[in-house]
Amino acid sequence: MKALEIKKGIYWVGAIDWDLRNFHGYSTQMGSTYNAYLVIDKKIALVDTVKHYKFDEMLERIKSVIDPSKIDYIVSNHTEMDHSGSILDMADIAKNAVIVCSPNGEKGLKKHFKKNLNFKIVNTGDSINIGARSLNFVLMQMVHWPDSMATYIPEDKLFLPNDAFGQHIASSERFDDEFGWDRIRLEAAKYYANIVLPYGAQVAKALEAVSSLDIDMIAPSHGLIWRSHIKDIIELYKKWAQNACEKKAVIVYDTMWHSTERMAYAIKDVFEEKSIPCEIRNLAASHISDVMTSVLDAKYICVGSPTLNNGVLPTVSAFLTYLKGLAPKNRIGIAFGSFGWGGQSIGDIENILESAKFELPIKGLKVQWVPDDKELDELKNKIREVVK
Ligand code: FEO
Repeated sequence: MKALEIKKGIYWVGAIDWDLRNFHGYSTQMGSTYNAYLVIDKKIALVDTVKHYKFDEMLERIKSVIDPSKIDYIVSNHTEMDHSGSILDMADIAKNAVIVCSPNGEKGLKKHFKKNLNFKIVNTGDSINIGARSLNFVLMQMVHWPDSMATYIPEDKLFLPNDAFGQHIASSERFDDEFGWDRIRLEAAKYYANIVLPYGAQVAKALEAVSSLDIDMIAPSHGLIWRSHIKDIIELYKKWAQNACEKKAVIVYDTMWHSTERMAYAIKDVFEEKSIPCEIRNLAASHISDVMTSVLDAKYICVGSPTLNNGVLPTVSAFLTYLKGLAPKNRIGIAFGSFGWGGQSIGDIENILESAKFELPIKGLKVQWVPDDKELDELKNKIREVVK
């Protein structure tokens, strides 16, 4: 396994996790990479590491370029262990290496490793000269952890923003133009929807900082490196950071005996009648992290569940918890569901959507037992009121 030179004297030395299918609850059907970058100058810097079980792969790639004991700086842009999980192993080999991180990075790494390392704390505007180049640092708090920061190398117009602009894609290609914009765009959207969405205000601030930098390559810590679609991905991040929605609907539901499903499809008919793009997602068949990709830019979010044991189905409950945590803004919510005798599920859905600050223009739509044509027509008329 070899390093790949991405700029003169700068190498990708990361690891490819082809088999990763679950990233703390996010379904990573395309696997992922943990990208680490080796900068060779008078001093040698390693920017980020990899998950602990991929340390040997990173080490082999580093060894294809230099003796790893010669590394002077290990930059930890982010404490989360998919990027910092190999710092201790690396520091055991590069015994004189200084660990460069943000103030919160130091706190986090100490708590994770229960050990004091040779830390150098940096803040926005700080710079470390390594010869012909300098490593410049930009704190990016809450994009997506308090410790997150980016490293910028102005001499190479190279921006290393860690998780920001990432995508969970395992591939033998390293660059966006080698892999194809359409596929990367989808995974970048899924990544944003599931990891970055709660932090729009912080992303907007980071984008402002980025706009003043001269950049011709963005090398994130997951997935493909951006060199041909930098403008495209920045434009998308601007849109997502604003929670800008399309006139689009997502109908998310689960069903016991198809009554709630019939309601879901009746709701879909109205959106289609109004020429509003609409996706139906049955939670028995769709992973919540994929549903979130659909939610990312959709104005109307309709959530349905029959009543089971005086509440919502567990799949719907899990989705609502996840949705609320990811905190999409400026959305219209509609609750619906069938019931036999209690009917509590609809109110439960409404309560969660309300607490997630969704606008609920109509009261939750309920049908007892199996909806007939008249009840479905009434339901459609209520939806028509919302999207008129
Ligand atoms: Fe890729 Fe927040 O770790």
